[in-house]
Formats: sequence, C-alpha cells, structure tokens
Amino acid sequence: MADSPVLEQLLRRLEVADGGLDSAELATQLGVEHQAVVGAVKSLQALGEVIEAELRSTKCWELTAEGEEIAREGSHEARVFRSIPPEGLVQSELMQLPSGKVGFSKAMSNKWIRVDKSAADGPRVFQVVDSIEDEVQRRLQLVQSGQAEKLTEKERNELRKRKLLTEVVLKTYWVSKGKGFSTSVSKQEAELSPEMISSGSWRDRPFKPYNFSARGVLPDSGHLHPLLKVRSQFRQIFLEMGYKYTWKLEEARKNLLRTHTTAASARALYRLAQKKPFTPAKYFSIDRVFRNETLDATHLAEFHQIEGVIADHGLTLGHLMGVLREFFTKLGITQLRFKPAYNPYTEPSMEVFSYHQGLKKWVEVGNSGVFRPEMLLPMGLPENVSVIAWGLSLERPTMIKYGINNIRELVGHKVNLQMVYDSPVCRLDVEPRSPKTQEPA
Ligand code: PHE
Repeated sequence: MADSPVLEQLLRRLEVADGGLDSAELATQLGVEHQAVVGAVKSLQALGEVIEAELRSTKCWELTAEGEEIAREGSHEARVFRSIPPEGLVQSELMQLPSGKVGFSKAMSNKWIRVDKSAADGPRVFQVVDSIEDEVQRRLQLVQSGQAEKLTEKERNELRKRKLLTEVVLKTYWVSKGKGFSTSVSKQEAELSPEMISSGSWRDRPFKPYNFSARGVLPDSGHLHPLLKVRSQFRQIFLEMGYKYTWKLEEARKNLLRTHTTAASARALYRLAQKKPFTPAKYFSIDRVFRNETLDATHLAEFHQIEGVIADHGLTLGHLMGVLREFFTKLGITQLRFKPAYNPYTEPSMEVFSYHQGLKKWVEVGNSGVFRPEMLLPMGLPENVSVIAWGLSLERPTMIKYGINNIRELVGHKVNLQMVYDSPVCRLDVEPRSPKTQEPA
C-alpha cells in the first residue's frame, strides 16, 4: 500500500511507539489534516488485524475567529491603550476606533486609562500607566499553542463568555499494534482474475475478505402517493364486501367535471334497470370530482369521492345504517353517529359522524341516504326495489391517517416528494393523528 505516505508513516511510528499513538497528535506531527490520518486508520482496519483502533472523544478548546484576531493583534483594551498619544485623545474620536467601544470600558476597569472631563474640546482620554500586560492575548496564545490546561477553569470560562473560546469535542483514534502487525502491508486483492488462476499467482496474493454487512446501493424506484395507497385500501374493502368494479381506462381518461360521483351511480342504476328481470346489485366508485369551492387548508376545487350503492328489494334505513357500520368498521372507525340531512336525490338522508380521538370531537366522515322513488321509477326499476347509498372523500381519511394538516401538502405543486417517499404503507386501523380535511357536500 505504498500509495499512501500517511499510512506508511503511521505504521512506521507505530512500530517504535510505546503502547500506541493518538491520531490527532500524529496529524500534528506529520503536518497533515486529521482526516488524512483517520483515512489511513480506516484502511488499515479493513485489512483485519494489522492495527487496533479505539475511538475516543476528547474535549478541547478552540479559538473563535475573534479569539484568533485577538491572539494576533492584542485585546481591544490593549489596542485602545496603545492608540492614546501622550497628549491624550478626544473621547469621541477614540470611540470611533474599531476596538473603541469594547476596549474603552475594559481599559477603564483595568485602570489603564482615565478621562479628563475638563478639557476645552470635550472629554479627553489619557494613559494612566506606562506599560500594560495584555493578559487576554497571552491566554489566547496559550490555548492556540495547545496549552489550554495552563489556564484555570475560571479563566477559560471568562474567555468563553467573551466568545473568544469554544469547547469542541474531538473524535480521535487511539491506535495500537494488532495481532498481525507489520509495517509492510500489501494491498489486498479485491478480485480474482483469470490471469491469477492460470499463472497460479493467486496462491501468494492476500485477498480482501468479503464484507457481508456492507449496505447495498438503494435501488431507484418509484413511490406510491398516499392517496393511491389509501385508494387501494378502500377498493379492497369494497371488494371484500362483494361490491362490483368495472373499470375502463378510456372511461377514466374522460375529462368530466362532475361535482359528485352520484352521477355515475345513477348511470349504473339506469343500466341495471334495463336488465330484466331485476337482479340485486352492489356498486362502488372512486373518482375525481370538481367543485366551486373557496380554497383553503382543507378545501380544493377538486378531490376524490368514494361512493357505495346497493339496490335490492325492500332495503330500509336500517339496512343503510348496518352497511355503514360494517364499512366504517373495516376502516377502523367504530364510533358512529347519524344525523338527518338533506340531499335532493335521497330521502331520508343522513350525515355520518365519527368520534375523532385526536380532535376529541365528532367529525363528519360521510353523507348517505335512500334514493327517492322519483329518481328510480323513471329509470324502470321495479317499485319494491330500493337503493341505499353513501359517499365520502378520499382526501379526508388520507390526511387523518398520514397526519397531514394542509391539503396542499397532499395534492398539487407544493407536494414534497420526500413526504411521498417517507409515507408508509397505509394502515387504516391506526389511530387517527390529525384534524379535518375536505368534507363531502
Ligand atoms: N353525493 C353526496 C355528496 O357528494 C354523497 C351521497 C352519495 C349522498 C350517495 C347520498 C347518497 O356528498
């Protein structure tokens, strides 16, 4: 491994070292960056038992940028002291100097200078002593030369308060000889080549051991948006409950601006009515709807609606409540309440509320009803057939499940792709985390 002089130096010094050596000290001795020594330590570690390296953290003191300036040029108070000529200096002029403000008050409390207020051209500052000892500079220079331990704790703290010193934690390696120590380590082969086999040279070559704990490169792959994950969960629930789903790409591609998916339900019911004799049916749809809304954190002009429909003989409000309970239970929502509502196409109609653990209140989760005969009979459905249905938004449960408070973080150009990447597979039975989202009208 003659390609790294630092590595060679490390081995050579380790050979004669008594016990071991410190990576930071070695870096100073070799006049190289500490990182270069750390690199050498790591490549030696990879060879197996050549060296032993133990990570240590040591606290040490470092000068701040201002601290370094003072170590070089003297403290502000010393600079103020030196800038005063024997005939004194007008105080207002002195204050204009770069070190003026801080230096003046320190030099005053050190009793190095005095102010004569009786001068004709305003207060004048004079030196009081012949010479000064710039203690601050001296202390900082000590730290700079690695002798911070010569200062008392009080002295160091004082410098730290003046923001001239900071304490840093230095991570270094304590390196010692390993069982297989040698100063002439040769580069290990990473690959077995056909030439090595045919010439037989592989017999004398050292091989790098396999690193079974190396992390592989993460494959680049797409990630499903939370809405898509929750959508497939909903679809799964409907399919489990025996609902039908005929989906056509060309149908889905149509640019249709409907305000609710009940329009699609009505079409499905019309088609059902044309088939004689009547057979009971269960349908569901998940589709995009568009509304004239005032946009805010929980409303967009477009969202997705989930709708379920059952057509059968003699269905009642009791059936609707039962189906809603089953459906929402599968979502992990068990505490339900129904409230009378109005829809032009259903009578009776009910809004569905569920108790939100996070918000500690009842929130609306859906809308439902029994379709009016005025709507069903003209389609040709038999008189004793009734149709129950309900609808909800896809965005609301998604926001609750993923703890998203603003719908703009879920849909649209402000979506952070990292959020999509980080969102786990949807588990609808998990305790809800966050407040309201878009509600069905
Ligand atoms: N269409 C209703 C809405 O948008 C939901 C609904 C569906 C209500 C079916 C009753 C029956 O809120």
